[in-house]
Parts: sequence; structure tokens; C-alpha cells
Amino acid sequence: MRLGIVGGSGLYQMAAVEDAELVEIETPWGKPSDSLLLGRIGDTPVAFLPRHGRGHRLTPTELNYRANIAALKMVGCTDVLSISACGSFREELPPGTFVLVDQYVDRTRRRTNSFFGDGVVAHVSLAQPSCGSLADVTEDALKALGLSHRRGGSYLVMEGPQFSSRAESLLYRAAGLDVIGMTAMPEAALAREAELCYQTVAMVTDFDAWHGEHEAVDVAQVLEVLHRNVANSQSLVVAVAERLGGRATACASGCRTALDHAVITDRSV
Ligand code: ADE
Repeated sequence: MRLGIVGGSGLYQMAAVEDAELVEIETPWGKPSDSLLLGRIGDTPVAFLPRHGRGHRLTPTELNYRANIAALKMVGCTDVLSISACGSFREELPPGTFVLVDQYVDRTRRRTNSFFGDGVVAHVSLAQPSCGSLADVTEDALKALGLSHRRGGSYLVMEGPQFSSRAESLLYRAAGLDVIGMTAMPEAALAREAELCYQTVAMVTDFDAWHGEHEAVDVAQVLEVLHRNVANSQSLVVAVAERLGGRATACASGCRTALDHAVITDRSV
């Protein structure tokens, strides 16, 4: 087994990784965002990938999502914890809250969202796009660390790079969504196609644009909350790795067999 960690904005280092080595990976879909940091946290082998590259060089649209997920798969990841900064649509999810996302609404428009095509067609289910078992472990870690969190939440994935208008923000809030970010799709969909257990931990940095009493979101605000919470995100990763103790999650959600009944192309023709 190996735990993959995709670090979002503000999370570019993982000092807790022991026996660390940086590895350049080339995948059939090109290069991932940066070299992968391989090593272990306690008994758990890990692979850390900063989603936007070290120094934050890639916009959400420019990311090679397929190469990122393929690289994690190629180094043996079974489980992937994805850390993502997000805006909140709810008063009760203020900045600093960690949300264990269990659903996505994908409003991205300019991203390649599948490994399939070019003669091989598959349709995986995204009815339950997160791994419940990895969520259990992560929730247990959040509780043990005493971090403010919520189990379950719907994440609106926007194209960006601009933040939402107030009208869009109000619309998503009225639709009952919980948080908004720019990167969880197609990452989650590709993880499912790659038969990885995948869980997004969305860290709330702002109230997006709907909230009349707060300044509209800007990068300074996002970075300020991120910097205050980097240590918490790193502690969370360590606590999850410790709980896994070198064993892949006992996945009860079928993530690792997602392709068993998904390929529709007739291989005999
Ligand atoms: N990332 C952090 N805050 C965000 C917001 N309000 N909208 C989109 N992505 C975000």
C-alpha cells in the first residue's frame, strides 16, 4: 500500500516524511505537477505531490490531472488524501473548518476528465465519489486532533481562475451546496477510474462572495488562513498515516474494483 497526499494551495512541503527522496515521474499522460516526494510516515509509505507545483506555478485549468493521478498510481498508491482550500456557503462552516467532502458538482469546462477514449470506453459510477473507509480514518484523525470539522459536504468545482460573482455564489448557496473550490474535479473522477480510494479534505479559507458582512474573497485572505492552518493540515496527514499503520483502508466502497463492470468496449472485436 501507499498513501498519496495531494497538497493544495499553501501545502507544498511535508517535513514529516522520513527516508524522503524526490522522484521525477513521466506517465503516459505526461508529467505531473512536480516531482513526487516518496518516503514514509511511521509505518505507512507515502507519496506527496503539491498539486500546483512547488512555488505554485500552475492554475487549476493548467493542471495535468491525468498525469497527477497516474503518477500516484504508478508509485503504488492505494489511497489518496487530497487537501484543498475552499470557500464556504455556510455560516456554520467558517474559515479554519475541515470538511470531509462526499459529493461534487462539477462546473469545470476546460479539462480532460477521463483516462478513457481513443478506442476504449468505460463509464465508472460517481454516485458515491468519495471513499467512506478513508473518510472514517480521516474523521477519526480530525477528532483526535481536536480540529473543527464536518463529515460530509457538497463541493462545487468551478473552472476559475477568477473567484465567483456574488450572483453565482448566492445561486450555489441556494442550491444547498456547502463549499466551493477549483480543483477537486476531475481529480476525484480520475481517482475512481484509477481504482484509488480517494477523499478530499476541504479546508475553508473564506466565505466566498455571498456573505454580505465579510469582505469578498481575495488571495491575501485565502493565504492568511492557509498559513495559519498549514501545521494543522500536516498534523492531519500524519495522524491519517499513523492510523493506516502501513495497511490500505479496508475499502467497503468498491473503489478498488471500480472498473470491474465499467468497460463497455468489446475486447473481442
Ligand atoms: N479556494 C479558496 N477559496 C475559494 C473560493 N471562495 N472559491 C473558489 N476557490 C477557492
